[in-house]
Amino acid sequence: MLRIAIQKSGRLSQESLDLIMECNIKVNNGKGKLKSNAVNFPMEILYLRDDDIPGYVADHVADIGIAGLNVVLEKGKNNRVVMQLGFSKCRLCLAIPKEIDYDGLEFFSGKNIATSYPNLTEGYLKEKGIKADIHEISGSVEIAPGIGLADAICDIVSSGSTLISNGLKEVETIMSSEAVLIANADLPAEKEMILEQFLFRINAVQKAKSFKYILLNAPNDKIDQIIDILPGMKSPTVVPLAMEGWSSLHSVINEEKFWEIIDHLKQAGAQGILVVPIEKMIL
Ligand code: PRP
Ligand code: ZN
Repeated sequence: MLRIAIQKSGRLSQESLDLIMECNIKVNNGKGKLKSNAVNFPMEILYLRDDDIPGYVADHVADIGIAGLNVVLEKGKNNRVVMQLGFSKCRLCLAIPKEIDYDGLEFFSGKNIATSYPNLTEGYLKEKGIKADIHEISGSVEIAPGIGLADAICDIVSSGSTLISNGLKEVETIMSSEAVLIANADLPAEKEMILEQFLFRINAVQKAKSFKYILLNAPNDKIDQIIDILPGMKSPTVVPLAMEGWSSLHSVINEEKFWEIIDHLKQAGAQGILVVPIEKMIL
């Protein structure tokens, strides 16, 4: 049995649960529950505050967890970061009231900075040779300058709308962050094996997301030219159509190349192009 800790509510929680379910792990997820069991995979899910997840994983309360890299590094526990998950992207930034001129990091010398990330903030400023007064507060950091509690803040920015609505502007980026899967540094072999299976499934889901399945019709004399354009996994499947002299081609293409390839395909004579999502991809 592998215990995974995910955020109970907040920016990571839905996508963490989605990831587990996309791995075909079925969860009895009663609202308000703090713990649930997967029905078809040896996994137990704990719903916790994101800030507590690195500590619980380090202390063996959970074996693995999903948390923001920013929280993982701030807590500095002895966990392994086993995979970047690509969602909940954000950045840790220094921000100041928007009407104040900013002329470089020296600005922060001797200033009061409010943050929920005292270790990361201090580490960054120390490396840059700046001495500031760091005040740890656990939430609503953005209102601190407005109520005279601090000169500046260091907090997570995603869309930037929280900063704007509090009259602040971002002036330095300390780090980029996203959701990561962490694991206890020392798991028993049995749990390590379940983790491997889970990682295998996550990989398949993530690969599938970056690819599309493409089907198209083409005259037989254009097939070679079209195959040259399609960067398929191996060679594409070619199936004759009922209509004499025509075939259907099936292949897999990278989502990023998508529009570029579609244009080339049309120019080469492809018709009836269908692009469909792939659910899992095992290579
Ligand atoms: C973060 C951060 C900001 C907000 C920024 O809070 O503290 O308040 O997100 O997002 P935006 O740039 O899209 O407006 P989060 O939701 O992670 O909650 P927490 O700080 O209470 O953990
Ligand atoms: Zn939080």
